[in-house]
Amino acid sequence: MLYRKLEVPNYKEISDEVYKFIVEQTKILDSNAFWNKTNIGSFYKNNQKIISYFKSMKLTLIDAVVIQVTDKKELVVHVDGELGKEMPARIQWGILNYAGSRTALYEFKDTKMKPVQQYTTDINKSPYILIIPDSVREVDSFILDDGPVVWQPSKPHKIISGETLPRLTLTCKFIEPLDFLLEEK
Ligand SMILES: [Fe+2]
Repeated sequence: MLYRKLEVPNYKEISDEVYKFIVEQTKILDSNAFWNKTNIGSFYKNNQKIISYFKSMKLTLIDAVVIQVTDKKELVVHVDGELGKEMPARIQWGILNYAGSRTALYEFKDTKMKPVQQYTTDINKSPYILIIPDSVREVDSFILDDGPVVWQPSKPHKIISGETLPRLTLTCKFIEPLDFLLEEK
């Protein structure tokens, strides 16, 4: 499956703790930066709730990145990582203003069209590839309103934001592969 919603009874409570961490322990809200890798030591120290949840799932968090959308114009179809190379699946967690927004998932059309518009690497983020919108078709989408989502970011996708910004989500990467959560049951 393209994504799986996780059942987390204290989802909002956990999101609130992460938001408090962002406000009190980082400068993310003062910047307009899209990709904000947090200090993992500080993240562990200040986010007991989300860490306990991951422990209950037998998952070891190695990277927690805050994705901040401040401007709708920046949202484009893209692939995280390298084209044709699978990246490890991640968990996406809603933190602020995620209601009314969604992440659209695409597949490449069966054409000879070259799908890549631009390849970007930034020292602060993983490599990412802009996709020509006409080369893909939307096949699904997920929202974060009622729980975090496990998904595969090396498939083409785009954030479609709601009206209220900034929209904050947390991208969580783990030592353990998450593929078992995406297998059909
Ligand atoms: Fe992405």
